[in-house]
Parts: sequence; structure tokens; C-alpha cells
Amino acid sequence: MRALVMTAPSQGSDRTQIQEIDTPRPGPGEVTIDVAYAGVNFLDVMARRGDVGYVPAWPYVPGLEVAGTVREVGAGVSDLTAGQRVAAFTPGGGLSEVALTRAVLTVPIPDQISLLTAAGTPMMFSTALLLLTDSARLGPGDNVLVHSASGGVGSALAQLVPAIGGGLLIGTVGRPDKVASAQKSGYDVVIARGDGLIEAVRAATGGGGVDVVLDPLGTSMLDVDLAVTAPGGRIVLFGNAGGGQPAPLPPAGKLIGGNVAIGGFSISSLGASAPERVAAALRRVLDMIATGRLDVAVTKVDSLADVPAVHQLLADGRGNGKYVTRVTSTE
Ligand SMILES: NC(=O)c1ccc[n+]([C@@H]2O[C@H](COP(=O)([O-])OP(=O)(O)OC[C@H]3O[C@@H](n4cnc5c(N)ncnc54)[C@H](OP(=O)(O)O)[C@@H]3O)[C@@H](O)[C@H]2O)c1
Repeated sequence: MRALVMTAPSQGSDRTQIQEIDTPRPGPGEVTIDVAYAGVNFLDVMARRGDVGYVPAWPYVPGLEVAGTVREVGAGVSDLTAGQRVAAFTPGGGLSEVALTRAVLTVPIPDQISLLTAAGTPMMFSTALLLLTDSARLGPGDNVLVHSASGGVGSALAQLVPAIGGGLLIGTVGRPDKVASAQKSGYDVVIARGDGLIEAVRAATGGGGVDVVLDPLGTSMLDVDLAVTAPGGRIVLFGNAGGGQPAPLPPAGKLIGGNVAIGGFSISSLGASAPERVAAALRRVLDMIATGRLDVAVTKVDSLADVPAVHQLLADGRGNGKYVTRVTSTE
């Protein structure tokens, strides 16, 4: 089968190429999926540049989410059948014609949802939902601040926060030219990060601060986060987009005195330790899409051969929303 293979770490796309590799077969509790479409993620870029903890071994086939049809089920898998339309999280290997994953992380797709849409859902929307519900424990009317608001997860949060009863939604973006796209996706207030950010967030909340901060920027914005979080607020760190070693967390006294909690979230780790929670989130967002409560907008990439250029777009911070590539679909 054909797959996108990263042969060694690189800042560019020079070591990413399409190769013919062995087609996987499912072991116990696993399934293989004929991949119609696969999601492209910033996490692929973090793997490509060799960030610690993202690649088990080189060469590496990236790809963390797919939609397609079940090809084969392994021993002990009774709730999925060959030919069934499914969306799934993959532990890498999704950007290939046949993906291998655990059955517990594979979810049937409601009839109303296309394979293209379904492929863009697992990472973007399940991450956003779990961040809000499991990690940040969003309460009714809670104000939310999201960093990197114009990306895929950021745009999913723009829909989910109002859909599940949140309050004012504030987003930050890395460059002024990204403000418009975050506004378009639904943010009430969008601020380009830079001088005056703390004052701008406070002003947007009438001085009271935000109840929840969702931050994928390592620890680089943590001082800002602490300064704008209201008493009782929760800060969730869920990424390290800039790479490098995150700084130590603030001393306990600062958290005690500030009445704030800092937590972390990783959907990959949760998928390993509590896969049923991750699958439940995917089922819930697929149901919300099928019933018209969420709208997934994706940018369709023509083929696996075009994915390295998309990875570079994301690496340069020039991405906009969610990218999904056609793999074997003829649509
Ligand atoms: N923990 C989890 O389970 C989980 C799951 C999915 C994604 N994530 C993380 O969430 C973040 C957003 O993911 P996504 O899929 O929405 O990605 P995306 O659409 O590619 O957005 C990534 C954004 O990160 C920001 N950024 C900050 N520093 C950057 C740098 N040095 N290089 C490139 N971009 C940089 C840019 O936005 P600004 O310019 O606006 O800052 C960029 O648009 C990523 O950091 C990803 O690793 C975490």
C-alpha cells in the first residue's frame, strides 16, 4: 500500500515522501480501515521536526485520524464489521491507504455525515469537547480564553463553547492578519498577541477575567494566563506549538494565592489510558454534527502527495482551519 513516510526529523518537507510499505493486519482488539480521507494535524509537524515524545521510531508514518470503511477486524472485535463506515483515531499511520488502530477508538459514522467531514472530526472536535468538559469543567456562562484561536482546534472551540452553554469567548492569534478568520469562526473578541494583551482580555471581561484558559503554547503565555484568570478559574495546557522545553510551573503559593488551577490535556495519552472516554467524545460530536448542532468546515487536500506542502503551511503558522486529505476516495 501507499503511505506518507517521514524518513528522519526535519524542519522542512524534504524528508517526507510517498512510499510503498507493507499493508497492516489487525491483531486482537484491532481493526484495519481502508482510508477514504485522513485529517492533517499540527501534531504531524511536531513529529516531523522531531519534538520529544511524538515519534516512536523512524521512519514514521504520520496521521492521527481517518475516515473510511472497516477492512478487517482482529480477534475479539464483535461490534464492527467489514465494510462499515467508520471514523477513528490512529496512533500514527493514518496518512496511508490502510490504517491500523484499536477497535475501541473506532466509531461508526452516522449516515448523514460524509467521509470527508468525518475525517476532520476526531482530533479537532473531540479534543475541543474533552478540553471543555473533562479538563476545564466548563460551567454555564463561563468565560473562555483560547490561544491560537484560528487553528483547527480553535475553530472547533468557537462552535462548542456556545453549543454547550459557555459565556464570552475570547481568542488570541499570533498575527493581526489571522484576526478576521477567528472572528468569522465565532469568537466574540479576537486579540493579536503582543503588548497590552492582559489589559485587553481584562477589558473584554469587564475587569473580571476569564474562568477558563485553553492554552496550546507550552508555558510561554502562562504569566498572561495567570494574570487574566478569575478566582476559581482553570488553565489547561494542551500543547507546545513552539517546541522546546517548557518552563517549570509557577510556585504553589502563586496558585494558592491566585485561587487558580493549572492542568494538562493530551488526547493521545487519554486514548491510551481511557480510550472509552475519547470514543464517547467522538460519538457525541458526530451526533451533534448529524443533528445540525455543529458544522464542520474542512479544506480538502487533493492527495497524499500534497500533504507535505500542507505540513509546511502549518509549520509556518500560515494554516487556516482544518485540512483533510483525500487518500483512496474517488469523490
Ligand atoms: N493536547 C492534545 O490532545 C492536542 C490535540 C490536538 C491539537 N493539540 C495542539 O493544539 C494546537 C492547535 O492544533 P491544531 O490542530 O488546531 O493546529 P493548527 O490548526 O495548525 O494551529 C496551530 C497554531 O499554532 C500556533 N503556533 C504557535 N506557535 C507556532 C509555531 N512555532 N509554529 C507554528 N504554529 C504555531 C499558530 O496559531 P497562532 O499564530 O494564532 O498562535 C498556528 O495556527 C497545536 O499546538 C497542537 O499541538 C493538542
